[in-house]
Amino acid sequence: MFLSLANARKSETARKSETEKTQSLKEKLAFVNIYTYIHTKQEKMSEFKINTVLVTGSNRGLGFEFVQQFVNRENPPETIFATCRDPEGARSQELKKFSEKHENVIVIRLDSTDSASINATVKQVEKHLNGKNLDLLINNAGVLNPQSLETQTAEDMLQVYNINVVGPMLVTQAFHHLLKRYGEESNAKSAIIHISSLLGSIEGVPKMFSSFPVISYRCSKAALNMLACCHAVGYKQDGIISLAIHPGWVRTDMGGSQALLSKEESVGEIMKIISSLNETQSGTFVDYKGIHTPW
Ligand SMILES: NC(=O)c1ccc[n+]([C@@H]2O[C@H](COP(=O)([O-])OP(=O)(O)OC[C@H]3O[C@@H](n4cnc5c(N)ncnc54)[C@H](OP(=O)(O)O)[C@@H]3O)[C@@H](O)[C@H]2O)c1
Repeated sequence: MFLSLANARKSETARKSETEKTQSLKEKLAFVNIYTYIHTKQEKMSEFKINTVLVTGSNRGLGFEFVQQFVNRENPPETIFATCRDPEGARSQELKKFSEKHENVIVIRLDSTDSASINATVKQVEKHLNGKNLDLLINNAGVLNPQSLETQTAEDMLQVYNINVVGPMLVTQAFHHLLKRYGEESNAKSAIIHISSLLGSIEGVPKMFSSFPVISYRCSKAALNMLACCHAVGYKQDGIISLAIHPGWVRTDMGGSQALLSKEESVGEIMKIISSLNETQSGTFVDYKGIHTPW
C-alpha cells in the first residue's frame, strides 16, 4: 500500500513538473513572439524612405558608386540627381552611359563652388521634383592636395577650403527649401550627409599626422564637421537630419590603389546607415560602419 501511494505521488510530481515545463515553454514562446513583433515593427518604422536624392561629385569615385548603389537598391529612389561639374567631359562618360540605361538617373551640371551653377541646378531639380521634396542630399564632392606644414600655401589652403567647406555650405543653403518639411509633413525626415574624413578628426591627429600631414585637407574636413553639426541643430525644426560620415580609406583617384577598401564595400556600408537614419544620428560623426568617430 505504501509502495502504491509512493508511486502515485511520484507520478503526480512528474505530471506537475511536465505541466510546469509546458507552461514555461509557452511563456517563452509568447515572449519570443512579442519580441519579434516589436522588433520587426520597429525596423519597419525606422526605415528611412528615399524617393529623391542628390549627390555632388557623382561622375567618379565614391559619388558614382553612390549613384549605382541607389539604382540597384531593392526599392530604388524615383529620382537620383547625379550632379558633376562637367557632364560632357571625359571623366563623366561612364556616368552618362549609366544614366542612359536608367531613367531615374538625371545628370545635371553642378560646380559646388559656383553660385550661378548651383542656382541653375536648383531650378532644374525643382522642375523635376514638381512640388515634391528632396529626401537626401549627399555632399560628396571634395579634393585633397597633399601639402605638409612646410609646403602648404595660402592659395591651396583657400582652394581646398572653398571646395570642401564653402561648396557644401552653398549647396545645402540652396537646397534647404526642398529638404525642409512643412505642416503635416514635419514628422517625415530628410537628411544631409556630409562625406567627411577621419583626417578631419582633431583627436586623431597625434596618431596619424606623420603618415598623412595633408594640412589643407585636414583643416577643411574639421571645418566640414562643424558645418554638419550646425546643420543638425539649425535645421532640426525643419525635420532635417545632418551628419558627417568618414567613408574609410577607399581605392579611388583620391584614396589611391593602396587604400584598404573598395568603393563597393565603403558605399555598401554607408547605404546601411542611410537605410536606418533617424534623429539620434543627427549631429554625429561616424565612420562607414556607423561607429562614432572622435571629433
Ligand atoms: N577615397 C578616400 O579614401 C576618402 C577617404 C575619406 C574621405 N573621402 C571623401 O570622399 C569624397 C569623395 O572622394 P573620392 O575618393 O571619391 O574622390 P575622387 O575620386 O577624387 O572624386 C572627387 C569628386 O569630387 C568632384 N569635385 C571636386 N571639386 C568639385 C567641385 N568644385 N564641384 C563639383 N564636384 C567637384 C570631382 O569632380 P571632377 O571629376 O570634375 O574633378 C569628383 O567627382 C570626398 O569628399 C573625399 O574627401 C575619401
